[in-house]
Amino acid sequence: MTKRACVIGYPVSHSRSPLVHGFWLREYGIDGRYDRAEVPPHELAEFIAALESRGYVGANVTVPHKEAVFRLARVEDPVAQALGAVNTLWLEGGRMHGMNTDVAGFLANLDESRPGWDRSLAKAVVLGAGGAARAVIYGLLQRGAAKIVVVNRTLERARELRVRFKERVAITDWNDETALVQACLLVNTTSLGMTGQPALFVDLSPLPADALVTDLVYTPLETPLLAAAKARGLTTADGLGMLLHQAVPGFERWFGVRPKVTKALRDHVLSDLSTVPR
Ligand code: ATR
Repeated sequence: MTKRACVIGYPVSHSRSPLVHGFWLREYGIDGRYDRAEVPPHELAEFIAALESRGYVGANVTVPHKEAVFRLARVEDPVAQALGAVNTLWLEGGRMHGMNTDVAGFLANLDESRPGWDRSLAKAVVLGAGGAARAVIYGLLQRGAAKIVVVNRTLERARELRVRFKERVAITDWNDETALVQACLLVNTTSLGMTGQPALFVDLSPLPADALVTDLVYTPLETPLLAAAKARGLTTADGLGMLLHQAVPGFERWFGVRPKVTKALRDHVLSDLSTVPR
């Protein structure tokens, strides 16, 4: 029987998850399918409840449904519990279970891009304070970050993160010129710099020469932030790796094979990114 999974979002046409899972299904010769499911918020609960009867063994969940699905699924995963957000669902014992693989994806991408990046995380800077920032901060704290400075336009949202993650999180605004001083890692979690969004301008000169700069935005793959970091000679990690790595645990649950993130997979997704303007 053909096993089916899908990505649930609203809108969902931009999602590259079908490309990733479709590649792996072919690569491993698995009789499976991975669809896009555009589900408006008012139909979400019903869609999730009927996932099994629609023939799905599981699903990915994307914007804007991650928090709502957290409340609809059985969640034993401590990461999803800490974030209050689920991005991966699977059926087990007749129930829909949820986990969050964004943190693991973020960390695996940095592990691959610069092994040992977390050896001494004295200070990291996170731009943005939304759902993606939450996952990044959780991951950095897991890897022992001593101090994380959150830079956000709306300070109230950054304050919520400080309340959630406590004393190792400090908050500041975009005008704070000292934010990057002695930071070993800079992460952009905002949508700034994405194709069609306003540009992201940050003066990187205060960063130390061995700092690592990463951007969760992957359209374009080389964002202006990453280009500026490279021009300064800094190591960079692009956002595509996180997308690929966060997909691994779901595929393994649904289709029974732990897939590999390879250059061939990356090239496959990249060719789509370069040919289809969104
Ligand atoms: P996600 O779940 O992907 O993190 P989000 O919760 O909508 O998305 O968060 C978007 C982040 O990008 C926020 O930190 C937002 O800043 P605010 O909290 O002040 O809204 C930031 N962001 C988006 N557009 C921005 C802009 N034009 N200028 C500055 N920050 C922006």
